[in-house]
Amino acid sequence: MAEVKFDLSGKVAIVTGGGRGIGRAIALGLAGAGASVVVCSRTQQEIEGVAGEIRKVGSKSLAVTTDLTVNEQIEHLVDATIREFGRIDILVNNAARSFLRSLLDLREDGWDKVFDTNVKAVWLLSRAVARHMMEQKSGRIISITTVGAEKAEMGMASYGCSKAALKMLTRCMAREWAPYGINVNAVGPGLTRTDFSKPIWSNPEVAKHVTTAIPKGRLAEPEEIVGSVLFLASDAASFITGHSIYVDGGTLTT
Ligand SMILES: NC(=O)c1ccc[n+]([C@@H]2O[C@H](COP(=O)([O-])OP(=O)(O)OC[C@H]3O[C@@H](n4cnc5c(N)ncnc54)[C@H](OP(=O)(O)O)[C@@H]3O)[C@@H](O)[C@H]2O)c1
Repeated sequence: MAEVKFDLSGKVAIVTGGGRGIGRAIALGLAGAGASVVVCSRTQQEIEGVAGEIRKVGSKSLAVTTDLTVNEQIEHLVDATIREFGRIDILVNNAARSFLRSLLDLREDGWDKVFDTNVKAVWLLSRAVARHMMEQKSGRIISITTVGAEKAEMGMASYGCSKAALKMLTRCMAREWAPYGINVNAVGPGLTRTDFSKPIWSNPEVAKHVTTAIPKGRLAEPEEIVGSVLFLASDAASFITGHSIYVDGGTLTT
């Protein structure tokens, strides 16, 4: 029987937005599978905290304060990772932002901020990382999208459009970089209990309305998103590229 490997010992991963929520869970999950993990976000205290948690479980970690909408800071993140660990095997593009606004009320700079973070920064960082992965002739890039990339949600147009663009960017990167040994995929969570979605789950009436529309009848916990990322980062997914896995409790069946 073929041996399936999920072990990430010796691998070096970067997780954007790794200071809280889904990104924190992914950073801890990758570390638990043996990877050294670089965590970044704009909030130093949060990423230092996660890096400390990772070191406690015996893996190596580095926290690099980064605003991903500034290209010089993206380059600094990549340089700092290479200086510390000498290679990059896994990039998880998790950081994102959103505004809850109708299309009539959404401001032009709001649209731009969402696209700068959720699409442009992912392209710039993935490209900077891919240049190292190409030299190594291997790498995994995993971007976190959402069910909102497939389904129009009220007040979420800029976010949904940005994540639909990210899904397409995933396919474009997969196509262009497959010859260099780089697999590029996406994971799309459904509603997950984090600060991001707190306005929904902290209001019992809204939460009841929303969870009724989820076949599993509840939100995901951040830890439930981790398995799909570990799978795509592992040898078990060596021939999978350009795809999106939805972790949504059945949301997209409705
Ligand atoms: N929660 C949900 O229901 C849900 C559902 C579907 C998909 N998702 C997706 O899952 C991912 C994580 O979401 P979450 O719920 O964990 O969100 P969250 O708790 O708000 O965390 C977002 C992370 O992104 C970082 N970030 C935002 N802008 C940044 C920037 N310019 N530079 C660097 N870091 C930045 C934040 O850190 P700083 O603000 O400190 O920089 C934070 O660490 C996102 O891609 C989101 O679209 C979430």
